[in-house]
Amino acid sequence: MPDGPDEVIALEWIGIALAYQHKRTNDNKSIARSILETVEARARENERSAPEMPLYLEVDARNHHATQVYAHLGFELIDSVDVLTRGRYRRMVRSAVGPR
Ligand SMILES: CC(C)(COP(=O)(O)OP(=O)(O)OC[C@H]1O[C@@H](n2cnc3c(N)ncnc32)[C@H](O)[C@@H]1OP(=O)(O)O)[C@@H](O)C(=O)NCCC(=O)NCCS
Repeated sequence: MPDGPDEVIALEWIGIALAYQHKRTNDNKSIARSILETVEARARENERSAPEMPLYLEVDARNHHATQVYAHLGFELIDSVDVLTRGRYRRMVRSAVGPR
């Protein structure tokens, strides 16, 4: 990927049903964080993943809440790209190790 890591674990999409957005699990973790942790752990169990692979996602530039949540959860902005008919997207990455 230009100006980005060569190999990544790509998150295609995360969606939480409206009734469960901004809610927490029984152990007081945000559902968004909990999903991300579960998804990352599953992906890292896959034989095609490598420990150093960062997580990568694209988020609609108009989706400010999701962008802020991802930034809060440790994702850093790589750049913004125009995706044909879909409009502008932010590309974000989170390193395999480090503070969350
Ligand atoms: C994007 C989405 C998954 C986020 O889940 P959510 O339930 O809204 O997330 P929350 O509001 O509970 O926030 C999750 C965490 O981000 C933090 N956060 C929320 N808003 C924030 C803000 N404006 N700035 C910084 N941190 C913020 C919360 O404090 C929480 O942190 P914690 O885990 O440390 O407790 C959810 O809103 C969703 O499914 N939206 C519709 C689909 C969508 O847009 N998906 C993204 C497409 S890429």
